[in-house]
Amino acid sequence: MTALTLSTASAATLRADALVVGVAKGAKGPVLAPGSEAVDKAFGGKLATVLEALGAAGAEGEVTKLPAPDGLKVPVVIAAGLGSVPEKKDEAYGTEALRRAAGSAARALTGSKKAGFALPVTSAEDAEAIAEGALLGAYAFTAYQGGENKLAPKGKKNGNGAKLPLGEVALLGAKPRDKAFKAAAERAVAVAEEINRARDLINTPPNDLYPESFAAVATAAGKEHGIKVQVLDEKALVKGGYGGLLGVGQGSTHGPRLVKLAYTHPKAEKTLALVGKGITYDSGGISLKPAGHNETMKCDMSGAAAVFATVVAAARLGLQVNVTGWLALAENMPSGNATRPGDVLRMYSGKTVEVLNTDAEGRLVLADALTRASEETPDAIIDVATLTGAMVLALGNRTFGIMANDDAFRTSIHEIAEEVGEASWPMPLPADLRKGMDSPTADIANMGERMGGGLVAGLFLQEFVGEGIAWAHLDIAGPAFHEGAPYGYTPKGGTGSAVRTLVKLAERTAAGDLG
Ligand code: BES
Ligand code: MN
Ligand code: ZN
Repeated sequence: MTALTLSTASAATLRADALVVGVAKGAKGPVLAPGSEAVDKAFGGKLATVLEALGAAGAEGEVTKLPAPDGLKVPVVIAAGLGSVPEKKDEAYGTEALRRAAGSAARALTGSKKAGFALPVTSAEDAEAIAEGALLGAYAFTAYQGGENKLAPKGKKNGNGAKLPLGEVALLGAKPRDKAFKAAAERAVAVAEEINRARDLINTPPNDLYPESFAAVATAAGKEHGIKVQVLDEKALVKGGYGGLLGVGQGSTHGPRLVKLAYTHPKAEKTLALVGKGITYDSGGISLKPAGHNETMKCDMSGAAAVFATVVAAARLGLQVNVTGWLALAENMPSGNATRPGDVLRMYSGKTVEVLNTDAEGRLVLADALTRASEETPDAIIDVATLTGAMVLALGNRTFGIMANDDAFRTSIHEIAEEVGEASWPMPLPADLRKGMDSPTADIANMGERMGGGLVAGLFLQEFVGEGIAWAHLDIAGPAFHEGAPYGYTPKGGTGSAVRTLVKLAERTAAGDLG
């Protein structure tokens, strides 16, 4: 794990492998961002000219490496693009621009031990964004590379010679003795480490991460962080009548689990319940997914990973709010024991569901968890799920959809997501789509109209939420898993989508800012 330090050194005196400065897109070429003064001085005041000559424009995502001149105690300078200069003079750079620039620089520093980040800092929030971006950008999933490989070259991490992530981020321009900066650094470390924990879980192949092993990870983390963890195994699920979890899990040799994580604060006035879809592998079941649609389906537990990470982050930060996490874990596989299209399940709520498509399994496991969570009458329930391909069609690969039974709550979540730099968009729950799920045999079918499929899924979930409880549903099917080239602080694979939004929501709830 990459370490974070608030450095008292100046850019001119810091000993490290590299210094990172910010460069922005000005009207007449690249413009150096505040924080770069000492570095520019060492370049004889010509850093912007040199960057322009090298073709740098200051665009977002741009990273330019330069040999450092004499006078600096580092061999390399990295200019990280911040995008357009702020519109008004002396206006701060946006926190998401800082987060992304720090992330791009951290990725370019793979293999280095220590780097100083001299990006523009006007507040503790800026410092936090830079720290978060750097720690998230430095992430790498290497657990399955090298090690026991007898053919790996000597001294190399793996057969491809992959380098280790950046070892230490030294933040310059932050005030190490200032309370606000210390708290910001602490928060950045807790949140980034928990997002990286979620990423690790998502990236772990499904032959190693299945409901039982996921539950064991949660139990261990609970012990470490003072979170109460209860695991319902298959026997307990049968006894409790959890027909949704059992119906989805019955085709797999790895049985389903329902995990409850309870973080409590003695002075908490509010309780948030978070429910995560934890399909450790989604083959589609008997309604089998074709090749081309199943290669990344280890990511189908990203909602549960986000919920787990958020509860641990809340505990590490000691937030004055109770946060209960519910992980609905199952593996969706076809077999002689698997649920058939046409089967009827009796859910934990007592409702019956005709399973028309076994690939619409997320809503079945979530339904049981939502009903169970509702029994404890929390102040609000938020579920997070890689629920529908339709949401990816609607919003693309980087934006999650937000549905809710309360307009103000949906708006709050959307605003919070925006604030923490997560792209999201409010989606409706049109009542007319409900009749598409009418079943001649059961109370409801698990599939409705194809058009608006993401909203249909949301309407299905809504029926399993307790009366009078504020509820929101985040469909993260697009942003949960990134298949393209890394950008900013987003790596290939699991992203940890929704964790930042959920942690901020818990903080707002603790502060009494919501409902
Ligand atoms: N896990 C998938 C949704 C998904 C798709 C997640 C792409 C991530 C990327 C979900 O279980 C699913 O298969 N949904 C079906 C529902 C349909 C059968 C009603 C879908 O979206 O096609
Ligand atoms: Mn599915
Ligand atoms: Zn699924």
